[in-house]
Amino acid sequence: MKEYILSGARVYLGGTFHRADVHVQNGRFAAIAKNLAVPAGVPVISCTSYYIFPGLTDVHVHLREPGFSYKATVKSETAAAARGGYTTVCAMPNLKPAPDAPETLEAELSVIRRDASVHVLPYGTITAGRAGEKLSDMEGLAPLVFGYSDDGSGVQSESLMEEALRRAKALRKPVCAHCEVGSPDGAIHDGEYAAAHGIPGISSESEWEMIRRDIELVRRTGAQYHVCHISTKESVAIIREAKREGLPVTCETAPHYLVFTDASLKDDGAFRMNPPIRAERDREALIESILDGTIDMIATDHAPHSAEEKSGGLRSSVMGVVGLETALSVMYTEFVRPGLITKRRLMALLHDNAKRIFGIGTDIEVGAPADFTVFDPNPLAPVNTADFRSAGKSSPFAGRGVFGRVMLTAVEGDIVWSETDFVPKSML
Ligand code: DOR
Ligand code: ZN
Ligand code: ZN
Repeated sequence: MKEYILSGARVYLGGTFHRADVHVQNGRFAAIAKNLAVPAGVPVISCTSYYIFPGLTDVHVHLREPGFSYKATVKSETAAAARGGYTTVCAMPNLKPAPDAPETLEAELSVIRRDASVHVLPYGTITAGRAGEKLSDMEGLAPLVFGYSDDGSGVQSESLMEEALRRAKALRKPVCAHCEVGSPDGAIHDGEYAAAHGIPGISSESEWEMIRRDIELVRRTGAQYHVCHISTKESVAIIREAKREGLPVTCETAPHYLVFTDASLKDDGAFRMNPPIRAERDREALIESILDGTIDMIATDHAPHSAEEKSGGLRSSVMGVVGLETALSVMYTEFVRPGLITKRRLMALLHDNAKRIFGIGTDIEVGAPADFTVFDPNPLAPVNTADFRSAGKSSPFAGRGVFGRVMLTAVEGDIVWSETDFVPKSML
């Protein structure tokens, strides 16, 4: 059913929160105002203690199909996105086949068309087969993809990256880069914990040296360049400087880099991802850059794996953790509640800046598609990974107390997630 009214929530409208009723009809916002009249027969959902946010946007998720459905599927991971409050996600291309041309991308698009419950915007690869040797069919992919990434690896060849940026610029598409020199030869951050436990480390330079290289290439080409999952203090400083210079450079980080440090590591696969959780100095720099706007977006790098792949502790688990079902509550609990950032800044990080920078996602306004999420900020509960809709259960936030939960998420008015008994069964 596509017609209902959500009454009395604090609604995020044009950058501020207003108390209003929201009328959803035919997949769009039909009216947003105080004390809306209720047409006969239209159900009303009371939301007086809740917020209504625009559906969140995550520019960095791994949905695992085609190729890795033993880890997760488009169906399970878009269900997880909906439960997390997300209505638009950008899907990384480390898939089999890797989407490096319209034909290989079609395998992914057909699964998305069939199974996705939120909007999925695929990335095309930068290089053919994501192998780093020659460029993908960037022109053929352009009308079908959000942007280009070789996520999982850095593009090692400088000349290839320069050519990719030139072509992306001509195609008016962003390049979103996983920056890493070489391939990971360590397991965790090359810091105190690694030294104390004799675990091979991943250096900070491996990240920021490639960012520095790429920014010089942006200076030469003028391409739109976004840095994935920044984790180090130096990365922040380099990107801040590039922005000061006026270069078209943006970046994201993920909640785990803002909350944990290598002093809080446990020997559990849930703390192993690439880039790794770094040191306190890095965490502090990342928080500072959330406050000063150097970091544009919180992305999750949601990376589900099988339980077996995550069972090897810090030393030998596969890299990647899930994040879609915890990001909003974690950010709300750790940053908004203590007063470090405003709710408006949270909206910028989880929605507005992706719209401003990439033109993706929609605002709450009359006539727009009804993509939104209803958030209850009050309940405090430990993160229970058994509740995840994601097929991946490995999260560093498991067991951690967080405030808030998503009561309902709608995509074009269709309810794609709701808490038990929140809406009448007839509406589902
Ligand atoms: O932790 C990670 N997981 N880092 C990556 O670069 C890839 C990702 C994955 O696909 O699992
Ligand atoms: Zn990556
Ligand atoms: Zn990733």
